[in-house]
Amino acid sequence: MKLMEAIEKRKSVRRFSDKAPDWRKILRAIDAARYAPSAGGYFVTKFILVSDSKKIVELAAASQQDFVGKAKYVVVVVTDDSALVRSYDERGVRYATQQSGAAIQNFLLALTEQKLATTWVGHFVDEQVKRVLDISEGLYVEAIFPIGIETAVGIRYSVVGSRRKTRLDNILFFDKWGNKQMVPSVKLSREAV
Ligand SMILES: Cc1cc2nc3c(=O)[nH]c(=O)nc-3n(C[C@H](O)[C@H](O)[C@H](O)COP(=O)(O)O)c2cc1C
Repeated sequence: MKLMEAIEKRKSVRRFSDKAPDWRKILRAIDAARYAPSAGGYFVTKFILVSDSKKIVELAAASQQDFVGKAKYVVVVVTDDSALVRSYDERGVRYATQQSGAAIQNFLLALTEQKLATTWVGHFVDEQVKRVLDISEGLYVEAIFPIGIETAVGIRYSVVGSRRKTRLDNILFFDKWGNKQMVPSVKLSREAV
């Protein structure tokens, strides 16, 4: 799959088939996360692969989202910002979150490429998740990813590109905040483009 295709195909899936995904593919996706940029070269993001069905049910309760409990595997992303805070003070906190976002997007695209489905779950009770997975205090639970295979029905009804995505002109300014007009620095001619 080409990169732009994976970017455009990635979407949130909340219904999974009964078939368990191949855990090796999940590891491959976690491996892709390592290639994300990292402030100061500190890679502060960790991934917990959960296959224990009892813990998965507890994670669903912690997020109050039933579909989490239907997955055969759940990946929980955790950051330890201590090294970044030591180097960059409070800015390190922001760097840790940004780095984990970049790592997570690599992970999501690699899952998409391998035809695995997930949803980024950010709503949960932190303390409950930490308790289930023995995560120490001082660490930050970034997100929960229930992973499965999209049901055939789901695939049939989700036409790629029909999802509501913001338009490019809603997110792009030129030269200063709020300016939507691109002023070409050279007079455009056929030869210039
Ligand atoms: C930080 C963050 C938190 C999210 N939390 C949840 C969540 O708790 N539950 C859920 O079902 N989806 C959650 N989502 C998924 C969004 O609802 C979804 O990405 C959005 O609707 C766009 O759809 P798409 O992912 O198919 O492009 C979250 C996404 C992000 C980035």
